[in-house]
Amino acid sequence: MDVFIKNGQIATKNLTPGISVYGEELILQDVEYRVWNPKRSKLAASLLNGLKSLDIKNDSDILYLGASTGTTVSHISDMVPDGRIFAVEFSAVTAKKLTRLSRQRPNIYPILGDATKPKEYLNITPKVDFIYCDVAQPTQSELFMKNMDLFAKPESLGILMIKARSIDVVQKPKKIFKQEEKKIKEKGFKIIEKVKLEPYEKDHIAFIIENSGF
Ligand SMILES: C[S@@+](CC[C@H](N)C(=O)[O-])C[C@H]1O[C@@H](n2cnc3c(N)ncnc32)[C@H](O)[C@@H]1O
Repeated sequence: MDVFIKNGQIATKNLTPGISVYGEELILQDVEYRVWNPKRSKLAASLLNGLKSLDIKNDSDILYLGASTGTTVSHISDMVPDGRIFAVEFSAVTAKKLTRLSRQRPNIYPILGDATKPKEYLNITPKVDFIYCDVAQPTQSELFMKNMDLFAKPESLGILMIKARSIDVVQKPKKIFKQEEKKIKEKGFKIIEKVKLEPYEKDHIAFIIENSGF
């Protein structure tokens, strides 16, 4: 996994040298790196905040829920040069940009689909090594677990990005995080790491989840 952290900056080794995806800086040293903006990517924020248990290898297959235009997907694409990312996005407008990105990066497989209905992409998505979920929806924990049930291998991990305000704008974030944690544990999954995303994202937490119980 080619991720580099130095002096509070994070970068990935550019799979497509010379091409910047979202205006990020390119740094040419022995190879070319793409600076990863933690204010635009919750995964970069989690890693800068000390996330330890991310287990993505060069040849990992990833299912990514809520791919948007592909900002974070592009950095994961750098991390898995010999793997594949099945990137699900339900907005057709947004998915167009993601599709353009997939033409430059052959390890991205864009899927125009609804992550609450994973059976719709079951025939085009294999079992994967890692599931990334960032849909910013009230039912994000439920849809994440549904996708884990269908696509995770017994040893797979997943990451769930929880935005408290997407679930309830009135409740205290701490209470919402506890409530989501309870839901996940009750279904037999194990949360192995929790990382808050401040100062990059307010009232967000990342849960790394193990597919235990299957
Ligand atoms: C917070 S943005 C994702 C940002 C992206 N993960 C990144 O870091 O580059 C949430 C995205 O999830 C998408 N989304 C919301 N609900 C979804 C669903 N049920 N299925 C698929 N995508 C969904 C939205 O259209 C939006 O593009």
